[in-house]
Amino acid sequence: MSKLLVDNPFVIGKYISDDYFCDREKETEFLYKQIVNGRNVAMLSPRRMGKTGLIYHLFGQKEVAQRYHVFFTDIYATQTIEEFVYSLSSAIYVGQRKSLKKRFWDLVKSLRLAFRTDAVTGEPELSLSLGDIKEPEKTLDEIFEYLESADKPCIVAIDEFQQIGSYKGVRAEALLRTKIQQCRQTHFIFAGSKKHLMANMFNSPAKPFYQSVISIGINPLPKDAYVKFAISKFKEYGKEVEPELVGMVYDHFDGVTWFVQVIMNELFAMTGQGETCKTAKFDAAFQNAVDVQAVNYEQILSNLSLKQKALVQAIAKEGTVTGITRSGFIKKYNLDSSSTVQSALRPLVNNDIVLQDGNAYRLYDYFFASWLKR
Ligand SMILES: Nc1ncnc2c1ncn2[C@@H]1O[C@H](COP(=O)(O)OP(=O)(O)OP(=O)(O)O)[C@@H](O)[C@H]1O
Ligand SMILES: [Mg+2]
Repeated sequence: MSKLLVDNPFVIGKYISDDYFCDREKETEFLYKQIVNGRNVAMLSPRRMGKTGLIYHLFGQKEVAQRYHVFFTDIYATQTIEEFVYSLSSAIYVGQRKSLKKRFWDLVKSLRLAFRTDAVTGEPELSLSLGDIKEPEKTLDEIFEYLESADKPCIVAIDEFQQIGSYKGVRAEALLRTKIQQCRQTHFIFAGSKKHLMANMFNSPAKPFYQSVISIGINPLPKDAYVKFAISKFKEYGKEVEPELVGMVYDHFDGVTWFVQVIMNELFAMTGQGETCKTAKFDAAFQNAVDVQAVNYEQILSNLSLKQKALVQAIAKEGTVTGITRSGFIKKYNLDSSSTVQSALRPLVNNDIVLQDGNAYRLYDYFFASWLKR
């Protein structure tokens, strides 16, 4: 048995190692193949399916780590090209070896003023703040020069990439596309969860990134692979779990990884050493997961308008709604009119509270839906 790195093997919200990561062998291989062959990749899936985890998993593979310098940046919170450059610069600098940091200092001249001398080592260290990004285009040029002249090829993963479509001012997409096109030894993975925004970026002829990448959609983990994974994790820790229970958890959340992992984490915590976790525990685990989030849910609800609240509650009660602006649904929940529903719906979808799949709508968070229903 390998050394147990964590108390609970159902890890949530971070990547630890292969040991706590289920499957994704095909996806990892696919990504690797694209990169090795010099193609950039767009990775798409609904939220919480496992995109970010997969990027870390890829980066953790031995051949990747040996062959490439890897960088990861999440641009979810960025709203301007300055913030983008800030985020990218930090990602590229942080965690690098000393020799690489020295090259950064040599090449990324526009950020020199952001370097401070480290009191202990006497070496210059980057202490970047947003205000240091004065000439984003120039800094971007220098960063690309840095990547392109590194001693190994580079992989840059940009998470929540759809965000650049909303930057104001400079045409960030066009600017980035041009720079990325000129790269010879730097490869990109663009991950995103807003399907229509991502699709629009890469599949619309009018957009700079049109047909410039290979796309991969991330689906739920295969059920049998996940059941096997869960059983083996319980075993490694001297516990047992009924296979039917794992299958039940998986089905309840349509296999969406985060929700499944949250419940398995809870079930694991509820099971003593040498015990077997049985299907009867499901409801209690689910309830615990909802209770933990209750404060957040109060907060979310308090930020909604009355009309949005009414709509969210109606969708929660209904489960999945297909004719959301039809009179049947509107009457049933006293929602005024179809135009009220439409205008209340848009921000809910944009803020990932409601998930849209074609013309079907449901609450994105299964726990929130349950909390609203009670
Ligand atoms: N293959 C896997 N095995 C085990 N756990 C996983 C796996 N993939 C993802 N997870 C876990 O599932 C959760 C969601 O994964 P992740 O954050 O990668 O999803 P995401 O698609 O990037 O979501 P978002 O769109 O919200 O950023 C995380 O807590 C992660 O630890
Ligand atoms: Mg993510």
